[in-house]
Amino acid sequence: FCSLRAQSLIDRQVDSLLSLMTVDEKVGQLVQYSGAPVQRETLVRQGRIGSFLNVLGANSTREVQRIAVEESRLKIPLIFGFDVIHGYRTTFPIPLATACSWDLDLIEKAERIAATEATAAGVHWTFSPMVDIARDPRWGRIAEGAGEDPYLGSAVAAARVRGFQGPDLKSPTSLLACAKHFAAYGGAEGGRDYNTVDISERTLREIYLPPFKAAVDAGAGSLMCSFNEIAGMPSSANRMLLTDILRGEWKFKGFVVSDWNSIGELLQHGVAADLKEAAILGLKAGVDMDMEADAYHNHLASALQEDRITASQLDEAVRRVLRVKFQLGLFENPYRNCDTDRERRDILTPEHREAARKTAQRSIVLLKNQNNVLPLKKELKTLAIIGPLADDKESPLGPWHAMGKPEDVISVLGGIKAKLGTGTKVLFTRGCEIEKPSMSGFTEALDLARQADVVVVVVGESGQMSGEAESRSNIGLPGSQEDLVRALHGTGKPVVVVLMNGRPLAVQWIAENVPSIVETWFLGVETGNAIADVLFGDYNPSGKLTTSFPRATGQVPIYYNHKNTGRPAVDSVKWTSKYLDLKNSPLYPFGYGLSYTSFSYLNLELSAKTLKPAESLLVSVTVKNTGNRSGEEVVQMYARDEVASVTRPVRELKGFQKISLAPGESKRVQFSLTPEDLTFYDRDMKWT
Ligand code: BGC
Repeated sequence: FCSLRAQSLIDRQVDSLLSLMTVDEKVGQLVQYSGAPVQRETLVRQGRIGSFLNVLGANSTREVQRIAVEESRLKIPLIFGFDVIHGYRTTFPIPLATACSWDLDLIEKAERIAATEATAAGVHWTFSPMVDIARDPRWGRIAEGAGEDPYLGSAVAAARVRGFQGPDLKSPTSLLACAKHFAAYGGAEGGRDYNTVDISERTLREIYLPPFKAAVDAGAGSLMCSFNEIAGMPSSANRMLLTDILRGEWKFKGFVVSDWNSIGELLQHGVAADLKEAAILGLKAGVDMDMEADAYHNHLASALQEDRITASQLDEAVRRVLRVKFQLGLFENPYRNCDTDRERRDILTPEHREAARKTAQRSIVLLKNQNNVLPLKKELKTLAIIGPLADDKESPLGPWHAMGKPEDVISVLGGIKAKLGTGTKVLFTRGCEIEKPSMSGFTEALDLARQADVVVVVVGESGQMSGEAESRSNIGLPGSQEDLVRALHGTGKPVVVVLMNGRPLAVQWIAENVPSIVETWFLGVETGNAIADVLFGDYNPSGKLTTSFPRATGQVPIYYNHKNTGRPAVDSVKWTSKYLDLKNSPLYPFGYGLSYTSFSYLNLELSAKTLKPAESLLVSVTVKNTGNRSGEEVVQMYARDEVASVTRPVRELKGFQKISLAPGESKRVQFSLTPEDLTFYDRDMKWT
């Protein structure tokens, strides 16, 4: 992420600065605290803090930066980090949603806007993208990533890094990216957050690591290690991950920050007897900056004195942090992001809202549309909008919504009302709560439904039911919401279910009975407008799932790129790999999503029947819009290696293109398939 010449100049600057630093000042660069900059002014003045998280705003950051660069001995600037996960003030859809657009340009632009807003408010560094593969929707943090697939996950990871960082880290709107959580955090047993991960090296390398590698290759300047252990080794002490793979194999030149107190948690993991030992393990493994554990601050200097770490181990970590500060241009302009004008001007602009609306439209996945209930006519006489999420302005912000505010959110009800003229009577009631079971609101809901031509029912999870520490053991609709849908369906009126949630939900009854289902995730500030655009056909939905929807929670973990097993399921044969009470297939698979038009695929061709090393072959297919509306289609290419030295998945995504077709139009879509696409770790763990 920096030219070689610039790099070597920076390396010389870093070395000369390093030669001036005391041990305490060196350790200081590796220390990060959350908030409370005023109480920590003395430490800043002493050069004993290198970074803050959660200190925001052009004025607040300017004041503490001033102390660092005007009152400390070496005037080393601070770096300010913050979780800008899906927008800063203009909240975009959650990352799981935007991944469903399969539109890398759109995703990159969304992050560019997030970066523009965050950098206008003093932030230099986002703890994003989260690139953890998630195969278990019980895990609440599935909402923050791109879903279950390493190929798509890698493409999205790179797009997000490009979007945050922009073409030049020194530009005033560029935000340093941090790919997290390294690694395999999403592999938590039972989908329970922070839980043990025990996976093979093959699964680690083929499934969980590729998006991190892609983020590194796209120039991500930092990585965050994860809370979890993998096969007995917590990430914050995992030298194989943080040094051998990341720096050795991948040549990563940025720095690694711990997760919140994850070095301290080495005690609970049971691999360190005290905080000093934890600090030593962390530094030696390759964690450069300690977020909030106080381990480095309190113990690295004495660990050095006691020869438990070496001077060069300490220097190397400091070098990595300083190098990035130079690359960001912080030494030249420590106040680069403390611009009150830009803070007033560049946040929540109409253009940003417009981009959020476009992104939200494209993140929506149409799951079912029997008898073309959708799109709805704008000339409806009476429309009933029901459900605890229908007029909710908090939940659409989703988890980790940075500075997003409910007052900026257009609810579903608000969006629909804005779309319809005075000719349509819009009725609304909540019907029930999101989580608390109660049917006391059903009578009114049914009464409104009976008066309406169509019922739109908005159900799902609250915005805070996914994200960190939000695992669920049962991923059905919470509370009485499914009963509400059943009751409304019982009126005989056409019912459209709008789902709002941060993870796949097990909604088999709804899928089997209700004619239309729209998956909207948490779409951010433009929620209601984007949903109304889709419901009334002003935007033809084009999203495709990037995470499998199970029929029931008991099916998870569930993912499309599974192995065949020695006994693949056959309904009529008992001794095969299946459940007594459920099919193996998901309710809705990875890659699935409908449109208001239809597409057909014709003339699939390979340019050759064999593929030699150093060659590539072309895979072509004609895609035709066979319906009567313009629409976008995500053309997906999958491969299967039927016989190999080790077992291979039944299907693996190897390419995708999103195309747009007018009614009757066809396009020839071409993919190139290279030997690299068909490469995997063989019996001896060689990349073959
Ligand atoms: C989360 C990280 C986040 C950090 C700082 C931790 O609890 O796991 O994803 O970046 O807090 O807010």
